[in-house]
Amino acid sequence: MRRPNGGVVIVGAGQAGVSCAFKLRALGYAGEITIAGGEPHLPYHRPPLSKKYLSGDGDAARLLIKSRDLYESERIRLRVDCPVVAIHREEKHVELADGGVLGYDHLILATGARPRCLPVVHGARAPKVHLFRTLADAEALRESLVRDRHLLVVGGGFIGLETAAVARNLGMRVTVIERDQRILSRVACAETAAYFRALHEDNGVRVHEGVALTRLEQGENGTIAARLSNGVSIEPDVVVAGIGVVPETGLAGQAHLLVDNGIVVDGSGRTSDPFIYAAGDCARFPYRGQRVRLESVQNAVDMAEAVARAIVGESVEYRPVPWFWSDQYSTRLQIAGLNLGYTHVAVRKAQGAARSVWYYEGPRLLAVDAINDTKAFMSAKRWLEAGWSPVAHEIENPNVALADVSLSGQSALIN
Ligand code: APR
Repeated sequence: MRRPNGGVVIVGAGQAGVSCAFKLRALGYAGEITIAGGEPHLPYHRPPLSKKYLSGDGDAARLLIKSRDLYESERIRLRVDCPVVAIHREEKHVELADGGVLGYDHLILATGARPRCLPVVHGARAPKVHLFRTLADAEALRESLVRDRHLLVVGGGFIGLETAAVARNLGMRVTVIERDQRILSRVACAETAAYFRALHEDNGVRVHEGVALTRLEQGENGTIAARLSNGVSIEPDVVVAGIGVVPETGLAGQAHLLVDNGIVVDGSGRTSDPFIYAAGDCARFPYRGQRVRLESVQNAVDMAEAVARAIVGESVEYRPVPWFWSDQYSTRLQIAGLNLGYTHVAVRKAQGAARSVWYYEGPRLLAVDAINDTKAFMSAKRWLEAGWSPVAHEIENPNVALADVSLSGQSALIN
């Protein structure tokens, strides 16, 4: 059978998919490029959804990753509302939900992740219980954020805490419950978590750590009854769950690609099929002797670039210095590096509310959480990129300027 077309097909129109398409063109790739996305909109930035956009500040047009014209001028065929339903590796084509078929020379899976669902919803009316990932989710939730109403946030990760901050700013009553012993447990240490817990409590949020949701039920007069693991029952007006994401690996698994908490790829983003790559939240790649999956814009953009380079024939080894950020009230958290395997932290209190938490494995710097301290973030990022580690006791001494801290040259980037 003659394949209907070739070139590159990208499954997923999020940050990774779009970045990869444009990077391919920037690298001189001349073949056809098609992006197939499952949502109805032009590709948009997700991070503002749980921040500015949710607070009612900003319109959807400003969320666009690229304007419509740019797809045309770069000859990138964008097919929105066009889910891919199967990969046929032997024939090198993908099958679309509308029955169409797209042939490929190289296929890129940029399928992202989907939010974990609440484990127990018994009869609670869907409009009052929200998950949060897409523009449609943000719009639905925004409608429900009304002054004086009570919002229950399930999960104390970035999504939950950013939503809690927006809701408080809008005058809602807010309760956060976190199943683990502390909020932000997936990404940060106890010191950073304690800072953010205090920030939320100072802003009037009730934060309950070590408390899970056991049951949600439809209560009297359309209310929701949320039963918690500590025996308490509350009746919020609105519930939002930010209890993590799972990588979207369904297509890859059906096509018998190697999948293990993400689509398993090598240092160039290549899957177990040499003609298929993966990038972004869905991909699990080698990092410092382990395999990791990162959920971030940085990873989507940089890994997409690595894949684009591999496709045009460059030899590639993706070695990121990850970074992340979160805005809550007027506090900005910036994280450089990955704290995986840290043995201890050094806390630096700079001027005013600025502080930073430095994660070490022995003498080696792994990561930094910078809170209202862009200077610390920038220094840390630069040092991590260069493989330098600042001496911990000098970091802890506010009288030693960052510019004067002694550095040792143990590379934090050894794979
Ligand atoms: N009840 C209460 N808390 C729960 C439950 C539960 N049933 N299940 C999980 N949690 C908690 C986890 O312990 C964790 O602290 O929810 C939190 C989820 O945090 P993350 O895993 O960081 O995920 P989330 O905040 O949902 O963010 C999802 O979106 O913005 C991005 O960077 C973010 O990539 C991440 C993704």
